[in-house]
Amino acid sequence: MKGFTVAIDGPAGSGKSTIAKVLAKKYGFTYLDTGAMYRMMALYAIEKRLDWNKPGDLARLLGETTLDIRKENFFLNGEDVTRSIRTPEVTEKSSPVSTVREVREKLVEQQRRIGRGKEIILDGRDIGTVVFPEAQVKIFLVASPEERAARRFKEYREKNIACTYEEVLEDIRNRDRIDSTRKESPLRKAVDAVEIDTSHMTIEEAAGAISALIDSRLRDYTSSENIGGGHEIL
Ligand code: DC
Repeated sequence: MKGFTVAIDGPAGSGKSTIAKVLAKKYGFTYLDTGAMYRMMALYAIEKRLDWNKPGDLARLLGETTLDIRKENFFLNGEDVTRSIRTPEVTEKSSPVSTVREVREKLVEQQRRIGRGKEIILDGRDIGTVVFPEAQVKIFLVASPEERAARRFKEYREKNIACTYEEVLEDIRNRDRIDSTRKESPLRKAVDAVEIDTSHMTIEEAAGAISALIDSRLRDYTSSENIGGGHEIL
């Protein structure tokens, strides 16, 4: 197979990364969490004491950053930041960081480089619309803000991160607003994406629904490849 792309987009807490990981394991596909890349940039901006009234200043610092992804670990300039990119502070700042055009250009280019020609599942906000508009499977996951905040709150509690449900709900609403109203690649459903509301679904149910779509596209895809039979037109 010459590469097969599954794009999973949706707002914060809709279950994207948990479901994408389950699916990547099931199909033996590579998984790329693109949100983690924006989070690494947010962590760098915090460390560099960026003036948050001017997030565009981050463009000047772009040349100083190298982002590496190895298995499930994330490295910013060689340092393993897998845990530190999940704090509430980084989570909050990742939204303004992702509005900066130069940041998006750099990360989208890296995402395309990683994904090209592979069997891969990517999750994010703009995968089906901008990064891989030609993806074979496009999913748009949604869930109510209250349900998404409850999931995040539970996650933070399990990690002993101090916060209230109300704070998490406010952060979710705030990020929804920034992510969907920004000028550069706002969060929106691609016209050919399948929307799935996970509010009342378990992870297994949502993964099962997406698996059915992947299976059907994989059948079409591999059979159309067989018709070509390796015949090359020069
Ligand atoms: O999925 P996440 O919560 O880890 O994403 C963190 C932030 O990064 C989120 O507020 C929006 C942004 N993001 C983006 O703009 N485009 C992506 N492809 C992925 C994430």
